[in-house]
Amino acid sequence: NWSMDDFIDLQIEHIRETVGNKRVLLGLSGGVDSSVVGVLLHKAIGTQLTSIFVDHGLLRKGEAKQVMDSLEGKFGLNIVKVDAQDRFLSKLAGVTEPEKKRKIIGNEFIQVFNDEAQKLDGIDFLAQGTLYTDVIESGTDTAQTIKSHHNVGGLPEDMHFQLIEPLRSLFKDEARELGEKLGMPSALVWRQPFPGPGLGIRVLGEITPEKLQIVRDSDLILREEIKKAGLDRDIWQYFTVLPNIKSVGVMGDGRTYDYAVGIRAVTSIDGMTADFARIPWDVLQEISVRIVNEVDHVNRILYDVTSKPPSTIEWE
Ligand code: XMP
Repeated sequence: NWSMDDFIDLQIEHIRETVGNKRVLLGLSGGVDSSVVGVLLHKAIGTQLTSIFVDHGLLRKGEAKQVMDSLEGKFGLNIVKVDAQDRFLSKLAGVTEPEKKRKIIGNEFIQVFNDEAQKLDGIDFLAQGTLYTDVIESGTDTAQTIKSHHNVGGLPEDMHFQLIEPLRSLFKDEARELGEKLGMPSALVWRQPFPGPGLGIRVLGEITPEKLQIVRDSDLILREEIKKAGLDRDIWQYFTVLPNIKSVGVMGDGRTYDYAVGIRAVTSIDGMTADFARIPWDVLQEISVRIVNEVDHVNRILYDVTSKPPSTIEWE
């Protein structure tokens, strides 16, 4: 009779056995998965865990601070925060192809890790928040790769870390249940999934600071309105994308030629299939009005009404 309590006990025992008196490095992304792994590992091995939180400049508004306040402030994790925005943005300059962007972001992540890890002594293990879904969709277990999720595999040869992936057999809802059992606050546990490459795959095509700003600001408005409407628990993922389309509009007396912003909101159990969320028209209207009024260079809002399949959740 499988229960989450048993799972926690078994994992803690397993982690302690595997790690011994060695040290573990964890990449914190700010998402549910790596945060849960962080709290679980902290519970198992305490100060033998060092977490690295890379701010790659592709995070949502306010996210970095929230992660630090909660995981370092409340749970007492030892976190090294790396501000690597410039490094990522310069590597991504001029790159438009989605998989290429993913690879660059993934590789840069590993490089930043490498750099930070070298400053620490005697790290033998690297922990990751890989879920069962990531394993499948990255083609580790199947022949076909749909999208290369950068948090699976791909460690360079010269890194001698051994991987610890305690969530590898879990679906998202189970990872959340685990987080709750570990006493994590619901704001953290019920946080919507956020991809490793972050806003980098929500600015379609080339990534620029200006475009990131549009996605960041519109995304915050969307999140505020979804929460206000009481829909945040029902919708699996909701975010804005910048499809790189400009269209004509009118504001005051003048013609505008500005960006369209796309809204993606889906219901799902595990991210492998998804249906577009039936957000009430009035809520959509409020979101639309606010984004156009409050975010510069936006004059049109689109709502994505496709399911997965045939679409994917992210637009890239
Ligand atoms: P798709 O777009 O493939 O997304 O339907 C399924 C789920 O995976 C997330 N996703 C990613 N997560 N690295 C990640 O860590 C990635 O490159 C990546 N691409 C998509 C997506 O947000 C959704 O939850």
